[in-house]
Amino acid sequence: MSGPLILGIESSCDETGVGIVRGHQLLANEVASSVDQHARWGGVVPEVASRAHLQAMVPALNRACEKADVSLDEVDAIAVTAGPGLMGALVVGLASAKALAAALNKPLYGVNHLVGHVAVDILEHGPLEQPCGALLVSGGHTNLLRVDDLTSSITEVGSTIDDAAGEAYDKVARLLGLGYPGGPVVDRLAAAGDPRAIAFPRGLTARHDLERHRFDFSFSGLKTAVSRWVETARLEGREVPVADVCASFQEAVCDVLTAKAVDLCDHHGLEHFVIGGGVAANSRLRVLLEERLAERGVTLRRPRPGLCTDNGAMIAVLGAEVVAAGLPPSAPDLGADSGLPISTVLV
Ligand code: KG4
Ligand code: ZN
Repeated sequence: MSGPLILGIESSCDETGVGIVRGHQLLANEVASSVDQHARWGGVVPEVASRAHLQAMVPALNRACEKADVSLDEVDAIAVTAGPGLMGALVVGLASAKALAAALNKPLYGVNHLVGHVAVDILEHGPLEQPCGALLVSGGHTNLLRVDDLTSSITEVGSTIDDAAGEAYDKVARLLGLGYPGGPVVDRLAAAGDPRAIAFPRGLTARHDLERHRFDFSFSGLKTAVSRWVETARLEGREVPVADVCASFQEAVCDVLTAKAVDLCDHHGLEHFVIGGGVAANSRLRVLLEERLAERGVTLRRPRPGLCTDNGAMIAVLGAEVVAAGLPPSAPDLGADSGLPISTVLV
């Protein structure tokens, strides 16, 4: 086994994650989710998430050490999510990481959660070929990226101008009464539906939009179109064909995401592409993107679904990359930044 032993701590939203890696090898990935406590509100309640992190952090840390069969003194460095995310949630992870770093006298690295989503695939498929394109699709972000160097040079080429892809899944699930989070259930129901049943709009793909927003996304019009369609069906006393609505909505999302990903690779001459974030677990996105990129000779890296959603291993492996690149540790008084831009890999 080679590489530094890194402890990674994640607490930006509703998952308390503690991961342990040695270089590119995953040793433990303990995740405690507070999602059940938010479900009845239809979205994450920040105060509830913060309290759940406080309760879950130490048990998750203990389980991770046990699973990895390491003690905390053996750890070479501690990596923690410094942002972006919910302020109250971020500070719980950050305070935990700072306390551990001080008590154990270990270097501390405050890293970017979004870059962690891009980095996590290294645990499954080894070193990232660079430059590469990346699609980051989560509950709060939808970005097309050019990655020249994971630890020092990430360029945002496009992003959503309104809702994130995951947010659109969550909102559509909510209007269909499917609960929160919406992504997994819409994905499952879509499998039994017809993706061509309803022609939902593809945001920012018209010729005039492409001039200004070639690599940007918009999902709020799609969400409204689904809402209107369902409302009309209900008003007319028709039964809503939930599977067809889910499949047609999902096809509209995945069609646009994949078309723009392919365009990014064409435009920048990229031969490798990686996806990350909760929506990267989506079954249709994974298949369609693979198909469309393969036609262009671009290889796709897809982390397994369990690594796409928030976890501590993604922070640990990004920490390992940062340490391997010889970057300096963060200041001991580093703060959380709820709006940390993706170009800032290390705080
Ligand atoms: O990356 P993540 O765990 O948290 C954030 O950083 O936001 O992403 C959560 C988002 C939620 O919106 C959830 O509905 C969506 O990812 N998601 C999915 C799937 N699994 C999770 N969306 C579509 N299909 C899925 N299978
Ligand atoms: Zn995330």
